[in-house]
Amino acid sequence: MAIRVLFPSSQPQPQPHLQPSRSSTTTRRSSRQRRGFCCFCSSTSSGGGDEVSSSSSMMTVSITGATGFIGRRLVDKLLSEDHKVCVLTRSTSKNKASSVFPASRYPGVTIADKEGDWERCIRDSTGVVNLAGMPISTRWSPEVKSEILQSRVNVTSKVRSYSTLLVLHLHHMSVVDHINTSSNGNGPSVFVSATAVGYYGTSETDSFDESSPSGNDYLAHVCREWEGRARQVKQEHVRLVLIRIGVVLGKDGGALAKMIPLFMMFAGGPLGTGTQWFSWIHLDDLVDLIYESLRNPAYTGIINGTAPNPVRLSELCDRLGQVVGRPSWLPVPGLAIKALLGEGATVVLDGQKVLPAKATQLGFSYRYPYVRDALKAIAKQL
Ligand SMILES: NC(=O)c1ccc[n+]([C@@H]2O[C@H](COP(=O)([O-])OP(=O)(O)OC[C@H]3O[C@@H](n4cnc5c(N)ncnc54)[C@H](OP(=O)(O)O)[C@@H]3O)[C@@H](O)[C@H]2O)c1
Repeated sequence: MAIRVLFPSSQPQPQPHLQPSRSSTTTRRSSRQRRGFCCFCSSTSSGGGDEVSSSSSMMTVSITGATGFIGRRLVDKLLSEDHKVCVLTRSTSKNKASSVFPASRYPGVTIADKEGDWERCIRDSTGVVNLAGMPISTRWSPEVKSEILQSRVNVTSKVRSYSTLLVLHLHHMSVVDHINTSSNGNGPSVFVSATAVGYYGTSETDSFDESSPSGNDYLAHVCREWEGRARQVKQEHVRLVLIRIGVVLGKDGGALAKMIPLFMMFAGGPLGTGTQWFSWIHLDDLVDLIYESLRNPAYTGIINGTAPNPVRLSELCDRLGQVVGRPSWLPVPGLAIKALLGEGATVVLDGQKVLPAKATQLGFSYRYPYVRDALKAIAKQL
């Protein structure tokens, strides 16, 4: 049985429809009413948009990469607001998914690891979030580079195989394919896909917003392909939000999980020159931004997922040293990082100053606009 919990029939029936969703088309409403997912719930909205400030639909959200650093927090947020979640995991990750989301503590979570189950989950969801992707801060061999790209572009749920005349055909069904085959008024009405600020390339002098052109390095290429694949979703039926994510700061993953132990051993300091830009966002703000993108129709197209005050890496390291009570005194030379990571060193040695023009225009309210406060909040959890 691939799906672990499928909203067991012993569970109370969903709340009756108390207030119509104002964020959906008539077609979408009738589909949700049929599934009985609409209800009135108190809003903890972080963003602008009157349309959702007073009412909200209960959502069922299918998430790829839900077992990762960002996904885990997003699942917690959705469940805390009484929504339902389908974790779309690779079949090789099923055990990991079951231990990250044990049925005892996550009764509202469905884990799907097979093609047909991904398909059913997506069809029965009101929204889909795509967070899957192989980590990029590794040494880049040609194979790794290919996997970095393919793991994002294919967003492969499962390889379907069939044979004709002894020829084995492999057919990849992606999240986008599943959304498209379940659209036409049914299936998800919103698709939120991760991409990254690497889209803009790197610069020590320029700043970038959503209207800036793409860069010409490998990560920019990956982001363009990644976004291009997401754009193949049928946008006449599905609202597409592409979040160009900056460096996500949180205790349990991403860049800080690697940096904090070094600082605690009195061995922390900037990587390379320290003058490179560091466009960061606190994990809670990013999760709020994804959440808002799911429920607020004003959120559409490209949105930079960064805090409004990017810093240079040396400032980040100084502030981090201050909040963990350790000096930031040991700069790691760029050459050493290049020896370790090869071409992948660009991830830490080069940066870009990215400003969240769209989120600001939408009235998104950041809990942590300044890196000092973000780091203080994270240090309190250590
Ligand atoms: N964290 C950041 O600072 C940051 C910054 C910019 C962009 N992003 C992007 O945001 C997304 C989520 O980030 P994250 O930090 O939460 O990532 P993460 O912790 O590395 O988790 C990503 C998830 O993707 C799936 N995955 C891993 N390798 C894969 C592969 N080879 N093929 C297909 N799926 C694979 C895994 O889920 P299953 O094992 O359950 O399938 C994994 O849990 C990623 O695409 C990342 O590139 C993150």
